[in-house]
Amino acid sequence: MPPDLNRRRVLAAMAALPVDGPGGAEPAPASLRAAARLSGRWYGGAARLDHLQGDADFRAALVRECGVLTPELELKWAALEPRRGELDFRRMDALIDFARQAGVAVHGHTLVWHRSIPDWAQAAMQGPADWRLIERYFASVIPRYGEAITRWDVVNEPIDPAAADGLRDSAYKRAFGPDYVRRALETARVFAPNAKLMINEYGLEYDDAEDRPRRAAFLRLLDRLQAKGAPLDGVGLQSHLNLGKGRLSQTSLRAFLHELAARGLFVSVSELDVKELDYASPVERRDAAVAALAQAYLDAALDEPRMVGVTTWGLSDRYSWLEVTPADLRRFPGAWRDGSTPGVNRGLPLDAALQRKPMYQAMLAAFAAAPGKTAGSSII
Ligand code: G3I
Repeated sequence: MPPDLNRRRVLAAMAALPVDGPGGAEPAPASLRAAARLSGRWYGGAARLDHLQGDADFRAALVRECGVLTPELELKWAALEPRRGELDFRRMDALIDFARQAGVAVHGHTLVWHRSIPDWAQAAMQGPADWRLIERYFASVIPRYGEAITRWDVVNEPIDPAAADGLRDSAYKRAFGPDYVRRALETARVFAPNAKLMINEYGLEYDDAEDRPRRAAFLRLLDRLQAKGAPLDGVGLQSHLNLGKGRLSQTSLRAFLHELAARGLFVSVSELDVKELDYASPVERRDAAVAALAQAYLDAALDEPRMVGVTTWGLSDRYSWLEVTPADLRRFPGAWRDGSTPGVNRGLPLDAALQRKPMYQAMLAAFAAAPGKTAGSSII
């Protein structure tokens, strides 16, 4: 090898090494949970029990990377009580056992959600309003997991900015009126005197015509709840990011988070993932676009001192609710004629082979750059 080329190779290799500070190079954290912890926050992932039980590699990755597990399906009402009075806790109990043995916390997702009401309860809610239906359900579920679950998404996705009161026209609102959100929080507090009670919502991430009214309606709901003294501790911003939605404004995101924090609430990123736009680009370009958006979002989000943790909706592209749809494929006529495919949506920190992606590195960098937080340490 010519000496010059050899020298250039050595220099290039040295440039790739971490730069030593006065105390020597800091080793990179070994996992997302370790990186989050260093900034005083949690990192978690959502997963399904069948994937954890049936896929040992995925299970190991989740235990390595996540300090918190959000049950993707198992803790929803329709999953727990498909027939009235026949509560089936087997899958949720198994998930709790797994988490306990693995030393992973469990996030309580979710008690009141218009998309997870069992058919029999939907029917019951069309009759005379009887809040005991909700009380009975909360009484069966919340105390059972009182030790294991210290944070509950009490109400999920209540917002519809098109409604005069800003609340979605759900079975809950139709049966119990718009006050159902406050009542759900009050009832949850009875059964979970020490847990953190939260509202979880989507579509709050962008400063665009869709999300701006959603943010305003969300803030109005929080103000009404607080004026009535409702026991609300924090909010979750789902954070399903989308490369098709255009620019993400860090300035307006910071301002929105500040509005939430000014109400004394803690804030979390509860369902982060990225829907891709350009499936026809080379994988490196696709991954770079996903990582850049995730990092821009987290850099702004983690600037907020009351931001206490980040959860991704899934961990690996192997299991993501985001799919490459036929409509996505139709946007690229002529692509994949050679028989190749775009594969899966690549919007999570690990790829489908469970390898760390640029999004993973972007999350490490965002946690490393994050200023400390001020919300109580008991929350993480
Ligand atoms: O397992 C059954 C299968 O046996 C059946 O043949 C099939 C027919 O539809 O359904 C399968 O169950 C589906 C389940 O996912 C597992 O794939 C349900 O229909 C489907 O509704 C369920 O979707 C979940 C959805 O919440 C509703 O519970 C998604 O996996 C889950 O990712 C999604 O999570 C939500 C959050 O809770 C709230 N925020 C948005 C987020 C994404 O939609």
